[in-house]
Amino acid sequence: MYSLLKPALFRIDPEAAHDLTIHSLQFMGKCLGASPPIQGRSCEVAGLRFANPIGLAAGLDKNGVAVSGFSRLGFGHIEVGTVTPRAQPGNPKPRVFRLERDRGLINRFGFNNDGIDALVARLTNHPYAGIIGVNIGKNKKTPNETAHEDYVHCLQKAAAVSDYITINVSSPNTPGLRDLADADKILDVVAPVLEARTGLQNRRQQMLPVFVKLAPDFLDQDLQKVLEALKRSVADGVILTNTTVRREGLSGQYQAEIGGLSGAPLARQSEHCLKVAVEVLEGALPVISVGGVMSGDDAQRRLDLGASLVQVYTGLIYRGPQLVKDAIRVTQ
Ligand SMILES: Cc1cc2nc3c(=O)[nH]c(=O)nc-3n(C[C@H](O)[C@H](O)[C@H](O)COP(=O)(O)O)c2cc1C
Repeated sequence: MYSLLKPALFRIDPEAAHDLTIHSLQFMGKCLGASPPIQGRSCEVAGLRFANPIGLAAGLDKNGVAVSGFSRLGFGHIEVGTVTPRAQPGNPKPRVFRLERDRGLINRFGFNNDGIDALVARLTNHPYAGIIGVNIGKNKKTPNETAHEDYVHCLQKAAAVSDYITINVSSPNTPGLRDLADADKILDVVAPVLEARTGLQNRRQQMLPVFVKLAPDFLDQDLQKVLEALKRSVADGVILTNTTVRREGLSGQYQAEIGGLSGAPLARQSEHCLKVAVEVLEGALPVISVGGVMSGDDAQRRLDLGASLVQVYTGLIYRGPQLVKDAIRVTQ
């Protein structure tokens, strides 16, 4: 089915294709309702039970409008967001580009989203039986000095409608955001969030796990220091990686566009970060691997390297729902 749809979708502007897909999935969800996750290799991560290790990465359903539609693809978990306290428009268009020959995307959306209140309203009493993550960020206008207040605000609002929270300090498209992930600063954001979640319950009335999502563009020694800091905190897991600002080995048009690169060209870098994290964290925190997973074998390889869960985004654009089915089957 997707092999028939894809040529038509790839002929239109990437953001228009994205909006059309989201609206179609939203409509499908409304008509057919949510599906439970496909039963695959089940696992427990941060106290949560995942029916299979394959999840939807943040950014595809930023506003949580199509969770039921996405659930029909079989994911074990769906991460929505990034959401910020107040709605914001993001960067001017065009802001997403297909690198077809490289099987990649470059985006500079800049956290366009409807704001936390709208997201919470949509997720309240959501029927999806799988795990729902809410990925949180800061508004563009919030200075880094008070960024932790944005994260704490989003956490408090989203706790009761989510299963876990992800602190996003890794998008390249909000000026200065990645500075929050410097080894000597990361706990300035993470510690207040972890403190605020004490006593908060998730939608299953369990303790609310908090993950931290990191960029792939650290030097190894800097990544090691950040991971050491997180290991010392009481964070519940690390998601590696967001998109890269590097541009190596690309052959296609649009490679000079500003933004974060995802998909196949990110795979090696993400895998490398996964290896570093597994070595540094020594099982103290689970690692969720994302970045360039384009096939079931790619997903299995991430698990073999020590990831607890795997997420996909760009692979879904290039391969469609079959990627999710393949990944769940291969990792069974
Ligand atoms: C168009 C687009 C928008 C994204 N938006 C977000 C976002 O809002 N928050 C976030 O944490 N990651 C976001 N990401 C990053 C993805 O979640 C993922 O970490 C990254 O794309 C690498 O995975 P992939 O190669 O499977 O796409 C976005 C990625 C793309 C391609």
